[in-house]
Amino acid sequence: MEEEYMRELTLNTGINIPIIGSGTNTFGKVDHQYMGEINGDTTEILSAIEVGYRHFDTAIAYRNEAVVGKAIKESGLPREAFFITSKIPGKPEYTNSERSVMEAVEFSLANLGTEYLDLYLIHHPWENLEEMVIVWHVLERYVDQGKIKAIGVSNFDKKQLAYLLAGARIKPAVNQIESHPGKWNHEIIDFSLQNDVFPEAWGPLTRVSPEAKEQLSQIGQAYGKSWAQVILRYQIEKEVIVIPKSHHLTRQKENLAIFDFSLTEQERNMIGQL
Ligand SMILES: NC(=O)c1ccc[n+]([C@@H]2O[C@H](COP(=O)([O-])OP(=O)(O)OC[C@H]3O[C@@H](n4cnc5c(N)ncnc54)[C@H](OP(=O)(O)O)[C@@H]3O)[C@@H](O)[C@H]2O)c1
Repeated sequence: MEEEYMRELTLNTGINIPIIGSGTNTFGKVDHQYMGEINGDTTEILSAIEVGYRHFDTAIAYRNEAVVGKAIKESGLPREAFFITSKIPGKPEYTNSERSVMEAVEFSLANLGTEYLDLYLIHHPWENLEEMVIVWHVLERYVDQGKIKAIGVSNFDKKQLAYLLAGARIKPAVNQIESHPGKWNHEIIDFSLQNDVFPEAWGPLTRVSPEAKEQLSQIGQAYGKSWAQVILRYQIEKEVIVIPKSHHLTRQKENLAIFDFSLTEQERNMIGQL
């Protein structure tokens, strides 16, 4: 039985990533709406830091990088205590020239108020794979300079990831993809792991049907764990990084408390079919 408080994985550039981070896509926004106006409220990020999160997932598209940066400063903890991921949108205005890519990276750094990013992802793939490799080479240079510690992708399928793996000098460290009951994406997760790319699950707790919740709760009963904790545990046992998000301190804490139980093979098989 594990008793550790947080497990870390080592990415291909040698840095460690906490296997659980906090999503942020509705943080610092009016009414916690994804499209809501930014209000600069750091309450949820500070409560996440208070209960032990040090890994945060933001993106240019979320418009809240500055809120994450502000919370980090307000925490009083040193920058190095944190693992910050952000993302460049896979859209022409950010990717159609070397200069656009550089402006996006500098925009993220300035908004987060940081000298470096721990992980920077291409948020979505686009059709022109060759062009994507050119963008990748710009990001590789930031890794060379130490301004980005690791680079990765998001929402890439097998073909897109394979193409990038073939053309990359620095291999993608992470592929952030949707993963939860009803959409486990086993195939791309396995393909990523086979190629030393850590899968990272977005939306790990959303869109879970009442039937799936019921079955997961039953599994959790034996361990004194909730359906959410069982899902998160299932993913980290597969070496899938998870970034659950909650606006409430109690649930933020609950989602971190998954290192003191293990699922049986039978339970894992059952969950994998939900
Ligand atoms: N790369 C991409 O394309 C992409 C796409 C989507 C999301 N993401 C990233 O992934 C992160 C996570 O995904 P997400 O924010 O969509 O959703 P999520 O983390 O799967 O779920 C969030 C919802 O689950 C609830 N919740 C959290 N913990 C719970 C618990 N222990 N028990 C019951 N309910 C719980 C929260 O409600 P309360 O707040 O009321 O607790 C919230 O409404 C995002 O914030 C973002 O950073 C990336």
